[in-house]
Amino acid sequence: MWQPQAAFSTQSSRTLINRWLQNQTGEPGSPVFFDNDRHRQQSHCFRTLTGICMSTTSSLSLKKLYSGKVRDLYEIDGQRMLMVASDRLSAFDVILDQPIPDKGKVLTAVSAFWFGKLKGMVPDHLTGDRVEDVVAAAELPLVAGRAVVVKRLRPVPVEAIVRGYLVGSGWKEYQLSGTVCGIELPAGLQEASRLPEPIFTPSTKAEVGDHDENISYARCAEIIGRDLAARVRDASIQLYQAAAEYALSKGIIIADTKFEFGLDEDGILTLMDEVLTPDSSRFWPADEYAEGTNPPSFDKQIIRNWLEQSGWNKQAPAPHVPQDVIDLTAAKYREALERLADSKTV
Ligand SMILES: Nc1ncnc2c1ncn2[C@@H]1O[C@H](COP(=O)(O)OP(=O)(O)OP(=O)(O)O)[C@@H](O)[C@H]1O
Ligand SMILES: [Mg+2]
Repeated sequence: MWQPQAAFSTQSSRTLINRWLQNQTGEPGSPVFFDNDRHRQQSHCFRTLTGICMSTTSSLSLKKLYSGKVRDLYEIDGQRMLMVASDRLSAFDVILDQPIPDKGKVLTAVSAFWFGKLKGMVPDHLTGDRVEDVVAAAELPLVAGRAVVVKRLRPVPVEAIVRGYLVGSGWKEYQLSGTVCGIELPAGLQEASRLPEPIFTPSTKAEVGDHDENISYARCAEIIGRDLAARVRDASIQLYQAAAEYALSKGIIIADTKFEFGLDEDGILTLMDEVLTPDSSRFWPADEYAEGTNPPSFDKQIIRNWLEQSGWNKQAPAPHVPQDVIDLTAAKYREALERLADSKTV
């Protein structure tokens, strides 16, 4: 029987998840990405790479379970965790030394907005508990606006990417083979073309230092099982469609996005992590959209562009980014929130 506590323990979790995969697929579990491997390596990464990075939560008295590139997870009890979004920014899979002011608050506000908007479509990981009720009063300022109380889920070990437009790695693959993640697309599409319908293009969850790898739907079904793969695909496409329609009414095109799901103790598919933020999606201003060009976006593209032109070899550590580039990036994140949620609360 599944135990929530095991979701973030070490060797026992690996055995557990492999056993779970065997149950799902009826065959020996294929090697999978497991969060905890990344946790161990990534914690080390933070210590060496992010000395001055905003470490918003280092003095929380809750036990830290995991440090991702952006979020930290803390144990509340066997069923619940505190998820805290820092101001860290990762580009080309390296975490910058410099935080982006208030980025974690913006990401938390954007996610909260979407969880509300999409409520009822798919169960989500929010417990509804107040942060004030699980964090000591003296520590509240450390997490204000950047923390939520979430259900402790067993992560589904694929990234659920939906693409509505042809860009990035999808555009690269299409130019070579006329496909994206093995899905045949009509001939004659250009960069940033709108696809005839949104497509589900999963990827692996890479170990730290590695890049997520696009995989076919068939491979996704091998990893997580046919039934679960179909549920993840259908939920992701429905969420994307609803969100894209709403965002367009606010002048934003959601070119693509990545969802993450987990299973609760009853095996219910549950939306988790961040939802439709500038970190997990490409948002384009609709009025600047033009087929055949890669439109500007409300995300870290500004920093990526600066890093690309700096001649950096994309190995850690990243070079020092000028303050005006940092400030512009912070402004772009805020603009995404303001446009989507009509909110200036951060
Ligand atoms: N409710 C939940 N239960 C279990 N794990 C969760 C839950 N919500 C989020 N997570 C996990 O917490 C981690 C958050 O970390 P973070 O967002 O910094 O990403 P990351 O691990 O560096 O990876 P990525 O770049 O793919 O987002 C992710 O690994 C995510 O899968
Ligand atoms: Mg993440």
